[in-house]
Formats: sequence, C-alpha cells, structure tokens
Amino acid sequence: MKYNSTSSQTAMDLEHHYGSHNYHPLPVVLSRGEGIYMWSPEGERYIDFLSAYSAVNQGHCHPRIIKALVDQAQRLTLTSRAFHSDILGEYCKYVTDYFGYQRVLPMNTGVEGGETALKLARRWGYLHKNIPDNQARVIFVSGNFWGRTLAAISTSTDPDCHDGFGPYMPGFDVIAYDDLAALEKAIAHPHICAFMVEPIQGEAGVFVPHDGYLKGVRELCTRHKVLMIADEIQTGLCRTGKMLCCDHEGVRPDLLILGKALSGGVLPVSAVLADDEVILGIKPGEHGSTYGGNPLACAVALESLQILKDEKLADNAAKMGEMLRQGLRQLKYPWIHEVRGKGLLNAVEIDHGAGADAWDICVTMKNHGLLAKPTHDNIIRFAPPLVITEEQLKTSLDIITKSFAQVEEARMAASN
Ligand SMILES: Cc1ncc(COP(=O)(O)O)c(C=O)c1O
Repeated sequence: MKYNSTSSQTAMDLEHHYGSHNYHPLPVVLSRGEGIYMWSPEGERYIDFLSAYSAVNQGHCHPRIIKALVDQAQRLTLTSRAFHSDILGEYCKYVTDYFGYQRVLPMNTGVEGGETALKLARRWGYLHKNIPDNQARVIFVSGNFWGRTLAAISTSTDPDCHDGFGPYMPGFDVIAYDDLAALEKAIAHPHICAFMVEPIQGEAGVFVPHDGYLKGVRELCTRHKVLMIADEIQTGLCRTGKMLCCDHEGVRPDLLILGKALSGGVLPVSAVLADDEVILGIKPGEHGSTYGGNPLACAVALESLQILKDEKLADNAAKMGEMLRQGLRQLKYPWIHEVRGKGLLNAVEIDHGAGADAWDICVTMKNHGLLAKPTHDNIIRFAPPLVITEEQLKTSLDIITKSFAQVEEARMAASN
C-alpha cells in the first residue's frame, strides 16, 4: 500500500475527518526522521524539540536500532509468553544487570508499566505487610501523569484527564508534590503499600522538586515499610543528564518503571524492575500481555540501552542541557515566568494573560524550523533528542530567540 506520498494538507484533512479528536497537534505533517531532524512530505526540515515526549532519546531512526529491528523481524517477532523465545532471557539478564535489580516484568506501553507496578505493590502489601484484603492504598501526588487508563485517570488531578470518566478506582490517595511533610503524614496509615512518583513531573510542565526530595521520599518509604515506585518513563534513560533521574540523589526505588526511550521510539516497550520479594508475588496467569517481552521488543530494547552507554548520552544531555538553559535564560521578556529543567528535559513557563501565547510561540518556531508543543496552555517543553550536538543546539537557540522576538513584536503591535 502506497501511503507516504500524501501532501501535508491531505494528511491533515484525512486525519481530521476520519480520526478521533483526542489530540490537538501542531499543524505540521512529518514523513521522515533522522537524528534530531524530521521532514515534511514537501521536504521542509524541522529540528525536533519534543522527541516524542522523550521516547526518541537516541535520535530518530537510529541505524543500530533499526538494524536490530529488521534483523529480528526477519527471524521471529512474536511467540506470546505461552512459549519461550531465545531472546527474552538474554534481555532479562541484560536489563536487570544494567539497572541493578533482581528481576524485570516486561510490558508494552508506559501506562501498562504503571498498572503492573501497582498490581505488584498491592500484592506485596497483602503478602508482606499484612494489609487486610482489598484494603491496600497507594499514595500519588497532584500533577501526576502516568497515562490514560481508568486507574491512571483515577489518580489524576488534571480535569482534562479525569473529569467525565467516572466511576473511579478506589484505593488511591493524592498529596502535594515535592512536599515531604505531606508524605510523612499520609504514609503512616498501615494500609499504604506504595508511593508512586515521577522524579521530575514531565507532563505537568517539567516541575523539578527541591534537592533532597527523592532522598527524603526514600527514607520515609523505608521507615514506614512502603514501596517507593519511581515512574522514570519520561525522566529515565539519560534524559535528565544521568541514566536515571533518581541517580542525581543516589536513590534506588523499590520499583522502577521504564518505557518510551527503552525502544528509542521504535516500538511500545516498557518494563518494571524490582527484586524477588516484589516481582515473585505475581504467579503464572495473574498478569501478562500478549506482546509483553516479545522478541522484536527485546532486540530493540537491548540495542537502545547499549546505545545510551556507547554514545555517552547522559553526559551529552547534562552538557547540552546547561547550554540550552543558559540560552533560554537570555530571553528577557516580561511574560516569561520561568525557565527550568534538568539535562535535556526543560520548560519555559509563560505568564497567563500577558499577551504572549505558548501555542503562537510554538507555531512561530515551527515556521522557523523547530518543533515543540505546549503543555497546559502556558508551558513549552524543550526536550530534543540526546544526540544533539553543540552546533545543532546553537542553531536551535537562534531559532528559538528569533521566534520569541517575533512573538514579542506582535504583542507590542497588538498593545499599541
Ligand atoms: C511519566 C510518564 N509515565 C507514564 C506515561 C505513559 O506512557 P504511555 O503513553 O506509553 O502509556 C507517560 C507518558 O507521557 C509519562 O510521561
């Protein structure tokens, strides 16, 4: 079937008329990607500053990942877990050695990783903390985002995610983010089995907690015999300048959830890592997924992880992130509320009602060849693939600077 010669307009029209309307994309169509770049069907080149929400840390269509994909696809793609494959065991050993856990439970999407972690934690609570049947509770924080299933939206404080989909799943408590006193109060309840947290809140708008927060979380969890679940789906795999964001504070969560860049943006591949006491609580038939741990995913994840080390992407993210924030902080407009981030996970927050609009800024940057997307109307995330070079970053900052100046000009013209 020939599909990739469609013009941008036709592609957008078809999607609009026949697709669901659960997204509001920027008006740009992409048909090819390589490294930090993507191209429209008409051949316009864009620098990607979203990286598919941090899935494409290794850059678009990394040749080594694509080779691993194609090689494996020509041999075997899916056995289901009814049988063994010759690569799942190798992947399990590799990924557990890599992150220092005893076991891994492989899934597909990020939200399935979250669901899996919660099932493991509830089971552990019944087996190891003597929580009465059906009474296990998990603590979340406001502004959390871990996907769109009914369990995930039941924990959400974002009305767009949450409202109008009830009834909601019980057993979840929500406290303030970056607030150890609130955690200390909530965690003492004897039915709490876990606390689930993003080390930096990505979708909420790149909120970085105070230094020592994760350490404090770890201490409270240990003291109260509660599992610490780190959702590193967006922050992990070198995005913030370390392999894991928890590494900035030397913290080891009890359950580690990974997704997105685990496949370098090639396939939905997620994983929950933990030790025997947690993972062996689930027995055959109690959890699973047809595609979870499939041979294609294993081959792709093995290569994607090795690339992070071979190309020293954590170091590059740390270095390029410093440069990026320095450049963004040169933008002196009264409507810029804050520049924040860690590594290459960054955001610029725009003041509400100040006459400059995050959507307009993103459209202007697109017109100059750089793609980013607002989150929550007034926050723009700046998160390029981690393979970005110094020269490419300078070019990107020139585009960002030019675009912000243009938006300011329009704002001034409108106010006169
Ligand atoms: C921190 C975090 N957890 C979980 C998810 C859900 O991942 P997926 O969309 O693959 O289900 C996301 C997606 O953006 C995320 O940012």
